[in-house]
Amino acid sequence: MTVDANLGGSAETVSASELAEIGLRYEVDGAIATITLDRPDKRNAQTFATWSALARIGENLPDQVRIVVVRGEGPSFSAGIDLRMFTPEGVPGQGSFVSAASLEDSAFERRIADAQRGFLWLRRPDIVSIAAVQGHAIGAGFQLALACDLRVVADDVKFCMKEPALGLVPDLTGTKPLVDLVGLSRAIELCLTARVVAADEAVRLGLAELAVPPGELAQAVRDLTGALLATDRGAATATKRLLQGALGRTLDQQAVAERREQIARIRTLFGSS
Ligand code: ACO
Repeated sequence: MTVDANLGGSAETVSASELAEIGLRYEVDGAIATITLDRPDKRNAQTFATWSALARIGENLPDQVRIVVVRGEGPSFSAGIDLRMFTPEGVPGQGSFVSAASLEDSAFERRIADAQRGFLWLRRPDIVSIAAVQGHAIGAGFQLALACDLRVVADDVKFCMKEPALGLVPDLTGTKPLVDLVGLSRAIELCLTARVVAADEAVRLGLAELAVPPGELAQAVRDLTGALLATDRGAATATKRLLQGALGRTLDQQAVAERREQIARIRTLFGSS
């Protein structure tokens, strides 16, 4: 089934044709939502409109969705930000960073925060997001993959945090998951050299859960999705919430959090009322 991003029909609705214009597809099939970056001729380069549409998809995700797959059509997952955003002309209707440079700080910050909203919802505890990544995942492409809980990659994957090489910082929420996954030293090395990380290293560093031949990527994601869906939703949500909080807590605090989540689980499973 293909659906509009908002089933309720509010001002947030993003239609399939609007998505197509932006270069996105969005499909919901039962518990699985699939978002496809669909501008393969431009290597799925991303614009403000891409991020705004992603945010609206997240805000209007149907309740039954438990898994969100983010994938890219064509040879590359995403070649990052649309480079027209760095030209004075920008992307038609969306402006550019050249014009944004003269914004007041607060307005500029709001603009970046709006873009980040497209990425942040992918960490919601009640869903599991999976990036299926083949070919290039550069800059914003790498950050979109990092925004997901899990990454399944094709053997030809090429991750690259290119922003510092362009005089910028990665600001689409990618720096924290990168540090969480690979550690501070490796994150500094990867970002400040803007070097490419291929599949075997990505798996070794924990950037990807598994690497498969390109022709097997879709099946690998289906297999993982099936295994994730076999787990009770309430338990999966509570466990993800617990794991997400673990890095920010002491052992004692985590033990308290475990107790609280477990009491809620046991009451749900066995409580009389
Ligand atoms: N923005 C806009 N258009 C792009 C982008 C991009 N980021 N990347 C590729 N394209 C376009 C190319 O201009 C080309 O268009 P054309 O056919 O009209 O000439 C088309 O996509 C195909 O690109 P090629 O370079 O021919 O494809 P190839 O497979 O050989 O190379 C690669 C792919 C390596 C990704 C290359 O396109 C590239 O280096 N792109 C730029 C990557 C980049 O610097 N991204 C910004 C990172 S920083 C950030 O995201 C904040």
